[in-house]
Amino acid sequence: MTLRSVLIGTGSALPKLAVPNAEMAKMVDTSDEWIVERTGIRNRYIAGEGETTSSLATAAARAALEAAGLEGKDIGLIVLATATPDQTFPATATIVQDAIGANGGMAFDVAAVCSGFLYGVGVADAMLRSGMATRALVIGAETFSRILDWEDRTTCVLFGDGAGAVVLEAQDVAEDGPGILATKLHADGAHNELLYVDGGPSTTQTVGHVRMKGREVFRHAVVNLADVLGSVLAEVGLTSADIDWVVPHQANQRILDATARKLGLAPERVVVTVDRHANTSAASVPLALDTAVRDGRIKPGDLVVLEAMGGGFTWGAALLRV
Ligand code: UT7
Repeated sequence: MTLRSVLIGTGSALPKLAVPNAEMAKMVDTSDEWIVERTGIRNRYIAGEGETTSSLATAAARAALEAAGLEGKDIGLIVLATATPDQTFPATATIVQDAIGANGGMAFDVAAVCSGFLYGVGVADAMLRSGMATRALVIGAETFSRILDWEDRTTCVLFGDGAGAVVLEAQDVAEDGPGILATKLHADGAHNELLYVDGGPSTTQTVGHVRMKGREVFRHAVVNLADVLGSVLAEVGLTSADIDWVVPHQANQRILDATARKLGLAPERVVVTVDRHANTSAASVPLALDTAVRDGRIKPGDLVVLEAMGGGFTWGAALLRV
């Protein structure tokens, strides 16, 4: 027997307002054709009045708890990944904690932008296996629309808002049983200027807007994601042929295709939601995971790999048996 963090529930939430590409073309000089051809995005959801990172995160957390058959009081650790917290402090995780009634346990945010959920999973997995908690909620939640420059067509068409959550439970399982088998996390701060926000409390005292050199980020993404997928599989002696599902960060359909090609993965094993949700940063992997669990594609026993890459740069992958 071995102690593992086992996935026992998933959930997600989206804002009410769906914004198809045609609406974006009314705001900036772009077209449905350009966005679909270059990114695969057809639609995104944008938070309206009263919808915040914490409200989306809370809805996703409640759905994940319900799927796990648990209540807030059963959760000892909340790790919330976001680059768009409700406030600079307190951590958005503490707002969710109070809303779901998990008061008294641990709750904090992690900042690794689009890789934030993978960092959250890595941290929660280590804390669960070291005995610091028995059950954890890991949440990725964003209202990226609030840090977009709505006059910059090179970025504003790419992102959307949403939240996804998972419940992990420390369990003693058989060697071939369920749970997180390996995680790999990386960062390289030399590439800060390729993807960043031009503001913050300690520099401009403003929130700032997303700035990205898309073509350069694209190149790094394909190389780093293929590398980290290969190494997380190698860690447990597996290859891409063993994988049932890849749940990637949903930034661009062309990145998903190029990464799958590099690893020799069949496209039908890749979960794609970028067409519906656009890039929701830290929310994109758990949103896609919940989508594929709820529509019945991902089943108990499946071997699933999660991966993401984002600002920093940061990137990572996690391998789990469901
Ligand atoms: O989540 C974090 C990780 N982020 C990513 O992974 C994003 C990675 N990058 C990308 O997905 C792609 O690089 C983009 C989708 C951002 C851009 O696609 P691209 O094929 O690399 O286009 P490009 O930046 O090379 O731009 C091509 C042309 C440019 O015009 P010129 O210079 O060729 O005349 C742009 O000005 O497309 C123009 N363009 C647009 N045209 C219509 C840029 N944005 C738009 C737009 N609508 N929204």
